Amino acid sequence: MAIRQIREIGDELLRKKSRPYEKVDDKARELLQDLYDTLKQTDDGVGLAAPQVGVLRRAIVVDLSMDEENPQGPFKLINPVIVKKSGSQVCREGCLSIPGKLGDVERPKKVTVEALDENGKKITIKADGLLAVVLCHEIDHLDGVLFVDRATELFNAEDVENEENESK
Ligand code: NI
Repeated sequence: MAIRQIREIGDELLRKKSRPYEKVDDKARELLQDLYDTLKQTDDGVGLAAPQVGVLRRAIVVDLSMDEENPQGPFKLINPVIVKKSGSQVCREGCLSIPGKLGDVERPKKVTVEALDENGKKITIKADGLLAVVLCHEIDHLDGVLFVDRATELFNAEDVENEENESK
């Protein structure tokens, strides 16, 4: 297990396209485990993509197992691809690589994602709601796309927190 350093916006590597895997080997499994360990030591992260730790390969982890309403995951995915999408929803997103910022982003309401699991087995995930958002966000990272590119409006996380406290 290893915690890797999370790269932040301004780092050129976050803007590059990641390479797919030809097969899921021990090195791929180690990367997935490191992504998971790194994600778990953040305060409230729900997903992490390989470029965020400086590796330009198509690997992501998504973990909504702490979600009270609808716990799902963790998912450790190699070569994830969105094969179907429908509907739309606007969600307020943040990113571990863009600390202090939140933004409203329009995403599909439902997506079907195909990927390989850590054993190289093909899996299909039918996701809606938050899981669909997080999968789209993480897969974007593999193409060098960040949520701030898609956001219709950006906020400082601190301002949002203060407003929430005032309205309580
Ligand atoms: Ni992100």
